[in-house]
Amino acid sequence: MNFADTHCHLNDEKFSNDLNEVIERAKSAGVNRIINFGDTLESSAAVVELTKKFTGMFAGVGVHPEEISGFNESSVEKIFELAKNEKVVAIGEIGLDYYWEKDSEKRLLQQKIFIEQLKIARQLNLPVCIHEREAHGDALKILKSEGKNLCGVMHCYSGSLEMAREIWKMGWLTGFDGPLTFKNSAKLPEIVKAAPQEMILIETDAPYLAPVPNRGKRNEPVFVVDVAKKIAEIRGETLETVAQYTTQNAENLYKIWRE
Ligand code: NI
Repeated sequence: MNFADTHCHLNDEKFSNDLNEVIERAKSAGVNRIINFGDTLESSAAVVELTKKFTGMFAGVGVHPEEISGFNESSVEKIFELAKNEKVVAIGEIGLDYYWEKDSEKRLLQQKIFIEQLKIARQLNLPVCIHEREAHGDALKILKSEGKNLCGVMHCYSGSLEMAREIWKMGWLTGFDGPLTFKNSAKLPEIVKAAPQEMILIETDAPYLAPVPNRGKRNEPVFVVDVAKKIAEIRGETLETVAQYTTQNAENLYKIWRE
């Protein structure tokens, strides 16, 4: 079986001592494609560097809504420059985070910078990985007005089933990770059950959000298999089936092929 961890952050310092072992563990479980996402210009450069060290490793570059202070014209140029690397497969993670940002002017600034980065994706013909927390309405509105001719994923999906249906209708995918396996997973199982196969991606968001049975520990790509197992259980599918279509979906969206 092959799996793709379509969203993680292996540039995080929590991996500085044992990254080789982390990658080995992932590969021995069939997790042979990994996409790391930047959240600042620095971490975006770092995830591009990682692609040079490991096979099956890809990168997304962009500035996270919580990291936008100081974002300017030269930030846009830097993202363009980084995105020219052939193993950069997405713009992300970008989006809106109203959970951490309560100030209405700063929320407007998040929207502006989100839209600017959507434009980069359009110009480079790259898919988009969206971080969206408690900003469901505005995120959907922006995608409808500014997301034309773009494709991508709502990573670590946390919206409603109704919103998910709208996203799928637009051709965008939903990414599921550790929280799906938590006891307080709220509406996620219902959403996973309703999702068309071709709209589901699996991810870890490592080092955060480790799925059960490793909840609370450092997360790593091998645990994406636990997310896939949960999806199989909820949907009454075999793990093989889930592995097959989630990997296919990752290939289709991000154009990642096994090296
Ligand atoms: Ni992330």
